[in-house]
Amino acid sequence: MRRPFIAGNWKMNLDRAAAVALAEGLKEKAAGVDYADIAVCPPFVYLDAVAQVLKGTNVGVGAQDCYFEGNGAFTGEVSVEMLQDIGCQYVILGHSERRHIIGEDNELTNKKVKAVLAAGLIPILCIGEMLEQREAGQTDDINAEQFFGSLAGLTADEMKKVVIAYEPVWAIGTGKVATPQQAEEVHANVRKLIESRFGKEVADAVRIQYGGSMKPDNAKDLLGQADIDGGLIGGAALKVDSFMGIIEAAK
Ligand code: PGA
Repeated sequence: MRRPFIAGNWKMNLDRAAAVALAEGLKEKAAGVDYADIAVCPPFVYLDAVAQVLKGTNVGVGAQDCYFEGNGAFTGEVSVEMLQDIGCQYVILGHSERRHIIGEDNELTNKKVKAVLAAGLIPILCIGEMLEQREAGQTDDINAEQFFGSLAGLTADEMKKVVIAYEPVWAIGTGKVATPQQAEEVHANVRKLIESRFGKEVADAVRIQYGGSMKPDNAKDLLGQADIDGGLIGGAALKVDSFMGIIEAAK
């Protein structure tokens, strides 16, 4: 049985006071949750403040990106060492907004995945097709290309620690959620990709989150699918009640 994992991706939202208040609210409301792993991924500048609130609680903290090099002359970047220093356990990598807005590719994402694993943190690797790619019947090919490209060179032991987030780009922030059947079909195919490269034991162990307009009212059906092991939540993670609603749907 894979343990559900619900993570909030706060993206470039909130201010310091709102970030701390959201963390404090979750600390209190999620305290009794023993059936799922929970994490929040605030903007870099608020990570430390949020990590301090959530220290020693059952709500983990993640970053939304990082750089792959150690500390040094990389203006504007944030190292894995720095994330570790403030108590970060997870790093979202290859999010579609980084791939399609910032222009990051599989090769760069792969270097970041390896750096995060080498430091003992957990990468949440995002993959997913755009609408025109789905309509052209390329969904499986795009996911395979991002999967193999972003995870090239990993050992089976490393792969076991990775969390995959399948996020169809057309469902992110649009209110257009994938149906549970559409999502399950892709998740099952992604699990086959894992098996083809790393074997069945690893494929059975890796958690695959769904992301893209997951809300309290659609979470139960999505999370009820055999290969959907959690969610990466954007908009609905910005309020304590809606994020808690999704966490409770994982029970
Ligand atoms: P959304 O974002 O829940 O707002 O669609 C999900 C994500 O991009 O991780």
